[in-house]
Amino acid sequence: MTVITHERFHPSEPVEFTESPTVAAGAGAAAITLSGLEKSFDANRVLRGINLHIPAGQFVAVIGKSGCGKSTLLRILMGLDEPTGGEISFEGADGAEIQPNARIVFQEPRLLPWLSVADNVVVGLGEGVEKRRAREEAKAVLDEVQLGEKAGEWPARLSGGQRQRVALARALVSKPGILALDEPLGALDALTRISMQQLLNRVWRELGCTTVLVTHDVSEAVHLADRVIVLEEGRIALDLAIPYPHPRRHGNPALAELEGRLLSAILGSDGGH
Ligand SMILES: Nc1ncnc2c1ncn2[C@@H]1O[C@H](COP(=O)(O)OP(=O)(O)OP(=O)(O)O)[C@@H](O)[C@H]1O
Ligand SMILES: [Mg+2]
Repeated sequence: MTVITHERFHPSEPVEFTESPTVAAGAGAAAITLSGLEKSFDANRVLRGINLHIPAGQFVAVIGKSGCGKSTLLRILMGLDEPTGGEISFEGADGAEIQPNARIVFQEPRLLPWLSVADNVVVGLGEGVEKRRAREEAKAVLDEVQLGEKAGEWPARLSGGQRQRVALARALVSKPGILALDEPLGALDALTRISMQQLLNRVWRELGCTTVLVTHDVSEAVHLADRVIVLEEGRIALDLAIPYPHPRRHGNPALAELEGRLLSAILGSDGGH
């Protein structure tokens, strides 16, 4: 298996490639460094030496076959699980090691049904924030995800896409330095998915948080990410830069070409190239 690190894509035609694709890193954004990261569950070696540096503010998509270790990698990034080998470190803007404010959104919104939409978002602020200020911050971030008018509503009365926007608002309200997303749009219909992708792209550009998106949708990965990583047999099989400015247009042929290359990498053929 070939390991390609930081491969650059040179577009055959200068379509929409007019400026740097990376947005300015936000104030609390953290860089992530994984060195020889290993994770085994008994005899099952899931992650087999992952070396990866993610600069602060970068948007990385992680793709790969079911069971290849994507969620395991995210859990370790979030501190929800311990690696069995190697190291993980986070650096702030000045290069010093920090404990970042990291938040995760899952495929299911996991809202608390006995709390209003606004109070579900307040939960994301954690303890110790004065109630009125917490409500104001929740309202502001709900406006951001276009749900301001649903602040007093019960989660049960929202659509699936609206619930997932509340889950995103809950993750964003504390202005995280790292945002981890584990197939957050996987349960949504195609149209809702596209509008959620646009929303994710916009909030990422505004907040400038380091973002790691696990997705099984290769098109979603190339439309949203600065860089797409393919995991295979516990290692990085491909690390592909997507050097196009945001927001990106659907139907861009250069993106379609990158999508094809990524699909070939996942499916294990060279795609005829
Ligand atoms: N808590 C656990 N205990 C034992 N094995 C686990 C545990 N969590 C994950 N695994 C194993 O680790 C491997 C990777 O699982 P993981 O959930 O990371 O895959 P994934 O790439 O996210 O898959 P999917 O695309 O289906 O979500 C699988 O073989 C799984 O069985
Ligand atoms: Mg998973």
